[in-house]
Amino acid sequence: MVQQHEDRQPGSQHFRIWVQGRLGEHFSDGLAGIEQEDVPAGTLLRGELLDQSQLHSTLDLLRSLGIDVLRFEVDPPQESGDAHRRMKETAERPAWGTGPDTEESPMNVAIVYDSKTGTTKAAAEAMAEIVRAAGHDCTVGSVRDADPAAVSAADAICVGSWCKGLFFVFQHATKATMGFIDGLGGLDGKPTAVFCTYKTAVGGMLSKMAAQLRNRGANVTGSFKSRGPVAADGFGVWVESLG
Ligand SMILES: Cc1cc2nc3c(=O)[nH]c(=O)nc-3n(C[C@H](O)[C@H](O)[C@H](O)COP(=O)(O)O)c2cc1C
Repeated sequence: MVQQHEDRQPGSQHFRIWVQGRLGEHFSDGLAGIEQEDVPAGTLLRGELLDQSQLHSTLDLLRSLGIDVLRFEVDPPQESGDAHRRMKETAERPAWGTGPDTEESPMNVAIVYDSKTGTTKAAAEAMAEIVRAAGHDCTVGSVRDADPAAVSAADAICVGSWCKGLFFVFQHATKATMGFIDGLGGLDGKPTAVFCTYKTAVGGMLSKMAAQLRNRGANVTGSFKSRGPVAADGFGVWVESLG
């Protein structure tokens, strides 16, 4: 059972994660303190966080299970002490997607991709159209040509790769993609998404890309896979979360 606001532990924050599709009726039984509810667009998971690492590990777990995270929200924290102040600073950054009400202004979004035969490039361009349709500026470029400093300076970043592996095992992002991520500057909590195009299965490649981006300081809030030259379902929701 999720605690109500008044009963929260000091410094804790309620969160809500929307995922695509229906999860099994007892999916959340194994996730301590998390409740699930069917909603029209998928399933809503909600619970309470004591720190950001819990949110990241929950998102990582969902993604490793192949569950598409459409969006998440974190409520402003309970007043109390240093831990709370740290959380509040982070919650007020746009990186949290939806925090306290803020005035919306266009963002500069950088999309970079690696593509061998053009599918990922086309998916990236379709994603850029969605970003621009939402009123933001968007640059799109290959990881082989893009300037890591310019990408690091964007307000939000999407990094994509085609899926390379043995079709059912050993999937990974390309060396060029992972090398590009390593060359990014400190991303300081920037909202970031990872994506790939694939044919059969993507394994843990998106989680590995996300982990590498987190090492650069990114706040990875989206993970998308497309089986073709199109933007993945749910990418528009991620764009909306930018404000
Ligand atoms: C050498 C090679 C390995 C691949 N391995 C996988 C794989 O393990 N899993 C998968 O789903 N697709 C795999 N694919 C398919 C590609 O990921 C997919 O066609 C992708 O959309 C190609 O993107 P691109 O056109 O941007 O290069 C592989 C393709 C190639 C050429």
